[in-house]
Amino acid sequence: MKILVLNGPNLNMLGKREPEIYGYETLEDINDKVDVCAHELGVKCDFLQSNHEGVLVDNICEANDKYDGIVMNPAALTHYSYAILDAIKAVSIPVIEVHISNIHAREEFRRHSVTAAAAAGIVAGFGSEGYVIALRALKNMIGTIDESVELNVV
Ligand code: DQA
Repeated sequence: MKILVLNGPNLNMLGKREPEIYGYETLEDINDKVDVCAHELGVKCDFLQSNHEGVLVDNICEANDKYDGIVMNPAALTHYSYAILDAIKAVSIPVIEVHISNIHAREEFRRHSVTAAAAAGIVAGFGSEGYVIALRALKNMIGTIDESVELNVV
């Protein structure tokens, strides 16, 4: 099982960026933590962060043939990117949306996710642990889909 872990704009600044909201861990620290969990689960994870919407769109679309699922924090693009929404809709693999902070308890503009409408699930407000929670949930979800295909029930 292969999972792509995608992070959007400004998440390369984790550790330094508003630590009172996002914590002191860097993205590398978080990716290392996710990788440890991936090994435990027998899953292979690849990691990519970009500040560019088009790069993220390309990677979501290309992931369709290469990965079994995506864990993605679209960052600020969550709140306005119809291009990311359409890319998630365009692929047949499940995408779990992750937010480090509880976006529903923050400024008004952060309370709405345009991308969540296409996500298979959402994790928000658990800090960096949210990525690990999403990976575990995604693995179970894909396992369930595979079993259903084998049993011919979907
Ligand atoms: C975020 C929340 C977004 O509103 C913000 O723009 C981010 C990070 C989060 O992980 O909590 O960049 O996605």
